[in-house]
Amino acid sequence: MTAAGEAYALFTSLTDAEPAGLWSAPGRVNLIGEHTDYNDGFVFPFATPHRTHVALGHRGDARIRVVSTFDTVPVEVAIADLDDLFPARRDEIAEWARYPLGVAWALLQQTGRDAASVTGVDLAFASDVPVGAGLSSSAAIEGSTASALNDVWSLGLDKVALAQAGRRAENEAVGAPTGIMDQMASMLGETDAGTFLDCRSLEAQVVDLGFARAGLDLLVMDTRVAHAHSTGGYRERREACERGAAAMGVPALRDVTIEQLPEVAERVDEVTFRRVRHIVTENQRVLDAVATLRERGPRAIGDLLTASHASMRDDFEISVPELNLAVDTALAHGALGARMTGGGFGGAAIALVDHGAVATATAAVEKAFADAGFGAPHLFTVRPAEGARRDG
Ligand code: GLA
Repeated sequence: MTAAGEAYALFTSLTDAEPAGLWSAPGRVNLIGEHTDYNDGFVFPFATPHRTHVALGHRGDARIRVVSTFDTVPVEVAIADLDDLFPARRDEIAEWARYPLGVAWALLQQTGRDAASVTGVDLAFASDVPVGAGLSSSAAIEGSTASALNDVWSLGLDKVALAQAGRRAENEAVGAPTGIMDQMASMLGETDAGTFLDCRSLEAQVVDLGFARAGLDLLVMDTRVAHAHSTGGYRERREACERGAAAMGVPALRDVTIEQLPEVAERVDEVTFRRVRHIVTENQRVLDAVATLRERGPRAIGDLLTASHASMRDDFEISVPELNLAVDTALAHGALGARMTGGGFGGAAIALVDHGAVATATAAVEKAFADAGFGAPHLFTVRPAEGARRDG
């Protein structure tokens, strides 16, 4: 059964009724621009064909109930209690349910709407976005929830505002200090295109990727090494970036240029310097990738992808041996460029590969993992797909 069918079936088995509608939102792959989003910088992600689907129905009371195929125990709260639950009592809510309930909370906060002014709802979720693969299953559940509630609660928010509500849910309700890239990619994605986003102005441009026309495939190499951004490394990297910006007297590292890096080196310790150097050079690589793609086509961006990986491995230090092995092996077997994608510390890497070389590269990565004694990776190609939408 498709994920849409599963969401529908879960809804009808929960309520014995038909849903009022079906919505969905995709995961994302970041082509380039990592950890630049919370530095007010540039990112260039696209939406995946994997989606989270939600079936929604109205209730006669003022409660919200969520259920999903990840955990069939429904979670139900009074809409008026959302404000007490987030963020203070979030621990009382099952972890996955903090995402959709957090979005409901964030939408009410953002619009200033009173809990009493919206109707009770049941939401049933099913997803084919791999969880923990660095493809932002969290943005997919946030985007589908935000789109559905925006429609049935007649909030009138545009896609950027819905992405902002998703980010607020993730930051404040879930407690993961992430940027806005994933939510924007999931809301704004378009078929065969990337979303070039300025994370300061939130201005987005749709940029044609043209992979298929150039005979290229984008191969995702999910290492199956799990990661979580509400803990540890992600937060530390963010703090290092804030220290760097403060040392340079600017609001964010977006405002530091490559020419200023020697000055940064004089003002901060060596580790902080390398963290800053990653962000400053990565911002430039995003701008270069977009310009190169427009001027010379997708075959020409491979080296920028690979340089981005080296910067994350050596300067930002967010890669792991499995990601490095996937990248190195893909490059040794014909990939034009490869890099880890997403927050790091696990998850997936991507490789830009000639259509005819996908099978060889895939087999080589699988063999390299087996030889290294790593768990089996999951490799698949993705075609950039459409963002959040109502499906029925
Ligand atoms: C995670 C976060 C994003 C972004 C990336 C790193 O996916 O959710 O906001 O910071 O990591 O680029």
